[in-house]
Amino acid sequence: MNRVEGIDKVTGRAKYAGESGEAAYVFAVQSAVPSGAVSAMDTAAAREMPGVLAVLTCVDPPVLGSAEDAELALFQTREIAFHGQLVGAVVADTLENARAAAAAVRVDYAATAHDVGLRADHPGRYTPDKVNPGLPADLSYGDIEAGLAAAAVSIDVTYTTPTLHNNPMEPHAALAAWDDEGHLTVADSTQGPSADRDTIATVLGLRPDQVRVISPHVGGGFGSKGTTRPPAILAALAARAAGRPVKAVFTRQQMFQLTGYRTPTIQRLRLGAGQDGKLTAVAHAVTEQTAIRTEFAEQTATCARVMYATPALSTTHRLVRLNVPAPSWMRAPGECPGMYALESAMDELAVAAGIDPIELRARNDPATEPESGKPFSSRHLVECLREGARRFGWAGRDPRPAVRATGPWLSGTGVAASTYPARRQPSSASVTAEGDKLVVRIAAADIGTGARTALTRIAAECLDVPTGQVQLELGDSSLPDAWLAGGSMGTASWGSAVAAACADFHKNGTRGTADTTEEVAADSGGFARHAFGAQFAEVLVHPGTGEVRVPRLLGVFAAGRIIDQTLARSQFIGGMTMGLGMALMEETVVDAAQGGFVHRDLAQYHVPTCADVQDIEAMWLDEQDPHLNPMGSKGIGEIGIVGTAAAIGNAVWHATGQRIRDLPITPAKILSRSDHE
Ligand code: MOS
Repeated sequence: MNRVEGIDKVTGRAKYAGESGEAAYVFAVQSAVPSGAVSAMDTAAAREMPGVLAVLTCVDPPVLGSAEDAELALFQTREIAFHGQLVGAVVADTLENARAAAAAVRVDYAATAHDVGLRADHPGRYTPDKVNPGLPADLSYGDIEAGLAAAAVSIDVTYTTPTLHNNPMEPHAALAAWDDEGHLTVADSTQGPSADRDTIATVLGLRPDQVRVISPHVGGGFGSKGTTRPPAILAALAARAAGRPVKAVFTRQQMFQLTGYRTPTIQRLRLGAGQDGKLTAVAHAVTEQTAIRTEFAEQTATCARVMYATPALSTTHRLVRLNVPAPSWMRAPGECPGMYALESAMDELAVAAGIDPIELRARNDPATEPESGKPFSSRHLVECLREGARRFGWAGRDPRPAVRATGPWLSGTGVAASTYPARRQPSSASVTAEGDKLVVRIAAADIGTGARTALTRIAAECLDVPTGQVQLELGDSSLPDAWLAGGSMGTASWGSAVAAACADFHKNGTRGTADTTEEVAADSGGFARHAFGAQFAEVLVHPGTGEVRVPRLLGVFAAGRIIDQTLARSQFIGGMTMGLGMALMEETVVDAAQGGFVHRDLAQYHVPTCADVQDIEAMWLDEQDPHLNPMGSKGIGEIGIVGTAAAIGNAVWHATGQRIRDLPITPAKILSRSDHE
C-alpha cells in the first residue's frame, strides 16, 4: 500500500512542527564551559537589539511547575553540568534578530574542572539501581570462573563504541501558543503526543487538559524525539514571556548538544566453550556514561540474558557520571551496542574453536529464555541464519582470514545475529462512521515509519472494508491516548487498540472505542517475546588506503506477521543502513580539553549516503506467533540495526585478519594494523 500521506509529503502540503504557523522566534544562549556556574549575565545590549521581545535567563529564572526533569527544568539553576547547557534565550520577531541578540548576551562563568572522559577504571564507576527499562543492572547465574576454567576454548576481549547521535532529518522544533484561558497548544516534533502533553504539563505546572500537542508529521526521531525535548518547554516559556506564539527550531549543532545521543560503551566479553562449541560461560561487563543531574542507564548487556544457552552467565552495567549531556534512546538502545560486542565475540569464539559461526550459534540456541526460563512465544533465530546462509551463498565459505583478493581489494564475509524485544503498551482508540468514511482516531505518531498507513490497513482488515474507506487521524494529543513510537512497540500497541475499537464498532454499529490497558497487563506472564534476525555482510578492504566497502548486506528477520511489505522492508534496510554507519563512519568525537563535542554537524558526523549502500536486502520468515497481539506482529523499527555492525566487523576480520574492536572501523585503524592485531 502506498503511504496515505505520501502525496502530501512530496507536494509539500504536509506541515512539520517548525513550519506549522506564523510566530516569533526564540534562540538559545548556551554555556561555553562544561562545568561550574554562571556568575553573571548582562542582557542590556541584547534587549536593545532590533525586534527583541523578551529575554530569558538562569539568573532570573522563569517559574516552572516541576524541576524534577533536569533536562527540561530550563534556566532553573546557574550550575553548569555540561558544555552547551541552556543558560538563556532571546525572543525576537525574526530568527535572524533572535540569533543576533542571543549572541549579544554576555555570560560570565566561574568555571570548575570538568571530566568528559569515560574509562573502564574510572574511579567514579557505580552500579545503577536499574538499567532501562527497569531491568536489573546485574544478573548472574552459575559459576563464571569455573565455566571459563573448564572451557576448551575461551576469549577475553574488550570492545568500545563511541558516542553516536540520532540525527533525524527534521530538526527538533516546537511552536507554542497560549490562549486567553491559559491553555497551551504546542506543535511539537515528537514520537508520542500523549506522553509529550503529560510531560509538558508537569514541567509547566498545568493540568494535562490545559495542554494540547499536535504532531501530524515528524521527520524521523530514532528515539531522540521519544521524550520531550527542550524546544517544547523553551517555546512555551518564550511565548509566555513575549505574549505571542513563539517557535523554537534547533539548529543541527544544537541537536548534538541538547536532544540526546547514544552513550559510548566499553564492553568486556569473556566467553568459554567446550570442544563441541557449547558455551560454558558468558560474561558481559559494560561501562557507560551518564550525566551529572540525570541518570540514563543503557541496558547494553541485557541481550546476553536472552541470546544463548549457558550454564554460567554474568551481566553487569557500570555508569560514570560525566560533564556531558544526558544520553538517551537511540535506535535499539541496549541491544544495538550490546549485540555489536556479543556477536563480535561469538565470531572470535567460533574462530578460536574452529567452528562455523552459524553452526556455533545453532549449537547454543536455548530451548527457553536463559534469564527467565520462560518459553519463547516464538524464536526462529536458527531458521533466519540458515535461510540467510542459503540466500547469501554461505556454504563452502573458506573460514581462513586474509586469503581472498578481488583486484587490489581483500574480501571477506561475516554474519551476526540480531534480536529485539516484542512488547506492547496500553493505548486507546475510537472508530466512528462519518459520511462514507469510517474515521479511526488514536494519538499515535507517524515519524516517517508509515504508522498512518499500517494502522489504516489494520483498521480496514478489522472492519472488513477497503482501505480507501478508512480515514486515520493521529498526531494530536486530543485524540484517544496512545503509546509513543518507541521501543518498536508502536504498531503492536496502536494496532491492538484499533483492532479492539473496530470490534466494539461491530457491536455498536456507529461508534466503537477501546482501551487496551487490561488486555496488555495480561502480557506480563507466560512467554518471553522477542524478534530475531540474522545479518550477513560482504566487505572489500583496500590494504593501501584502508577503505572498507560493503558490496552486500542481507538481513533475514523473524518478526511475527509483517503488516505491510513495503513499509517493513524500508524499516529493516533503514536500520541496516544505520548499522553500516555505526560500523564504518559514525562517531561523535568528544572535546577532552574544553568539554562538549567536536563533531556537531553532518559534515563531520558521517552517516551513510546512497553511494555507501550498495546491494542491501531485507527479507523475513513467515512467522506465526499467536501469543503477541491481534495482528500477530512483532516490532520492526529497531531490530534492523542490531547485529549489522558486528556482521561487518566480522567480515573485515575475514577479509584482513584484523580484529578492530573499537568502532567505527576507519581507514586509519585498518592501516595501523599493529595496533589491533
Ligand atoms: Mo526507539 S530508540 O525506542 O524510539
